[in-house]
Amino acid sequence: MNQHHIKIDREKCIGCGLCEKDCVAHNIALEDGKARVRAQDCILCGHCVAVCPKAAVAISGYGEAPVPDRGGRLEPEAVLGVIRRRRTIRQFQDREIPEAVLAQVLEAGRITHTAKNMQDVSFIVLDREKEKIEQMAVRLFRRLKPLAGLFSPLARRSQIGDHFFFFHAPIVIVIAAKAPIDGALAAQNMEFVAEANGLGVLFSGFFTTAAGASRGIRKTLGIPRGKKAVTTLVLGYPAVKYQRSAQREALDVRYL
Ligand SMILES: Cc1cc2nc3c(=O)[nH]c(=O)nc-3n(C[C@H](O)[C@H](O)[C@H](O)COP(=O)(O)O)c2cc1C
Ligand code: SF4
Ligand code: SF4
Repeated sequence: MNQHHIKIDREKCIGCGLCEKDCVAHNIALEDGKARVRAQDCILCGHCVAVCPKAAVAISGYGEAPVPDRGGRLEPEAVLGVIRRRRTIRQFQDREIPEAVLAQVLEAGRITHTAKNMQDVSFIVLDREKEKIEQMAVRLFRRLKPLAGLFSPLARRSQIGDHFFFFHAPIVIVIAAKAPIDGALAAQNMEFVAEANGLGVLFSGFFTTAAGASRGIRKTLGIPRGKKAVTTLVLGYPAVKYQRSAQREALDVRYL
């Protein structure tokens, strides 16, 4: 991660105290009617930058400026509808994903929140090497199948075809992170942006398992030290259309 420095412009600061109130680390104090940063070793969440009505707070070292909030909220029913209708896609058109669309999907992952603002998520896009890496996983699973078959009837029935993992999809993104939940959150947001672009997505648990089990696959993927493959997004334009939602069990909830 780059070095960052939080700076408050005393000329612009009107002493409203909003940054002090919203700082989770109690790292900002009002002194003589002006905000002051206590230390530079906070989680760098950027809330002080985001909340200031006078744009008096800045954090250096990023390759982007904060984007002003122009409002515009999504309709709750529309969001729920997207969640209800999305289906795992395993049939893909023979059609490339434009670079700009892929960039948007990756951007969704980049800006997703992370525990302690660790920003610990890495993305490995399989494009040219996709076929080769899929075959590594296929060979591994074919070797493991007899063993898995001892314990699972499903494994006994499974056929490990040449495209068992990626279903001929044009792009695969392996998501690696230190904290699995951070990778999972990024993946979910990426799926939403992918869906909004007309793409379909499969979360490949099988490939993620293969990456976890094989040093060779991990090495080929170049997963950074201290991180592990958390999930794998298989992306492409769907070659299947669903006419209605799929049913799910009733809500399992208790209120205490
Ligand atoms: C998996 C996860 C766990 C988190 N746990 C806590 C928590 O226990 N307490 C807390 O104050 N914030 C928690 N956060 C909030 C993060 O610190 C926050 O998302 C991060 O600083 C970025 O800020 P943002 O969500 O405003 O973008 C958690 C975030 C994630 C993604
Ligand atoms: S970046 Fe977050 S934790 Fe650090 S001073 Fe600003 S609000 Fe507080
Ligand atoms: S939110 Fe901005 S204007 Fe208000 S006290 Fe903090 S730095 Fe000053």
